[in-house]
Formats: sequence, structure tokens, C-alpha cells
Amino acid sequence: MQLGVNIDHIATLRNARMGLEPSVLEGALVAQKAGACQITTHLREDRRHIRDEDVYLLKEKLSIPINLEMAATSEMEEIAKKLLPNSCCIVPEKRLEVTTEGGLDVIRFEEKIKRMNANLQEKGILISLFIDADLKQVEAAKRTGAEFVEFHTGFFANAFQNGNYKKELDKLKEAAKYAQSLGIKVNAGHGLNYENVKLMHEIDGLIELNIGHSIISRAIFTGLYQAVKDMIDLI
Ligand code: PXP
Repeated sequence: MQLGVNIDHIATLRNARMGLEPSVLEGALVAQKAGACQITTHLREDRRHIRDEDVYLLKEKLSIPINLEMAATSEMEEIAKKLLPNSCCIVPEKRLEVTTEGGLDVIRFEEKIKRMNANLQEKGILISLFIDADLKQVEAAKRTGAEFVEFHTGFFANAFQNGNYKKELDKLKEAAKYAQSLGIKVNAGHGLNYENVKLMHEIDGLIELNIGHSIISRAIFTGLYQAVKDMIDLI
């Protein structure tokens, strides 16, 4: 398993003062140095954290791949075609949510996602769909031609906090197995931290975990380099 570090919250902090610090690029370079396999970043429609200029700068300066999280909109499709990240993770987006609250409804938007995937794949971009651990959504993801799914681990993380995670973990295990049987590669992310991440080892064949909030939170106390290293040690 590899670690993709989500650096959005460095931008959240920067934007709190509308200034230049902390630097998103510097954070990404530290995560790269500490062994992250990629930098994950969500360019939201409302630009509440990451901004357009951030993603172009990251693309120019990093030597590890960029995974651009984005909504399935034509604006984002155009940006992705210009930026050419290594991969795009298509996520649902609601203006008023605090963070991505659930997986993408691929069944509902299947034709639109299929078209967008084809346009991005034509440019050499790998596609991952951020979905819940739901077998019908996995089947729809397959039909859209996505190479990857990223399972939303938020429900598992909440259940872990409440001390009763078995059902949610079993759902993830079953969905991962099913996706892999269809030839889809499987990633996971959302709400993972230094405690619950250990259980990701129980899901066979996970390729990468994308983790942000817990790493940036720990970085306040340990520094980012150490926070990334500690997470890599666990996974
Ligand atoms: N993966 C996806 C698709 C996400 O939307 C997010 C949050 O932006 C993450 C991973 C990282 O989640 P967290 O910040 O809770 O680790």
C-alpha cells in the first residue's frame, strides 16, 4: 500500500489570512521528501482551499504524480485537460458540505461520467471514481471504463470512532474483492487516521490510501515530514 497525501488543509490555513503562508507547494515538497507516492488535491468549485494557480505550480514543481480530485463538471474537465495530472478522482460535490460527505452516484450520472472519463483518458489521465462500498456502484464504475475506484472510508471511520466498525469494514472488503474481480484497481480514503488506518491491511489488494486531515493535524505537533513518515510506517 502507498500513501497519497492530501494537502488541501494547508491551503485552508493559508486562506484563513488570505496571504501566502503556509505554502501549499512547500508542504507538497515536504510530503514528497518524506515518501508520499503522490499528492492529492481537490480543486473545489468554490475554491475554498486549493486554487487554480496551486495546481499548476504543483504540477510544475513536483516529481511525484498529482491526483486531482474534482467534480464531474465541464469546467473541471477543461482544467484537467490543461493541467494533465497523472490521475483524476471524480468526487461528488455539494456547496454547503464541510467535506465530501458520500460517494459519487455513478449509476445516476453514468452517461455523463462515461463521456468525461473517455475525454480525460484520451489525454492519458487515469480515472478513479470515489464511491461508497456498494456493489451496484462498482458495476456502474466498471461500465464507465474507470481504471480505479477509491472507496469512501468515512462511514468506516465514523463506526471505528463509535467502537463498532466490523460491518463497515466487511462492506469495504467485499466491495474491494468485487471491484478487483471486475479488473478495477482499488484505492481508499477519507477519515483515515493513525488509529483506524491499521485496519486497511485487512482489505486485500489496496493500492493507495489518500489521507489529508489526520496528517495535517498531526503536523501541527510533529512537523509535516514526521507526520507523513509516521503514516507511511503504519501503512
Ligand atoms: N479522498 C477523497 C476522494 C477526498 O475527497 C478526501 C477529502 O478531500 C480524502 C481522500 C482525504 O480525506 P481526509 O482529509 O479525511 O483524510
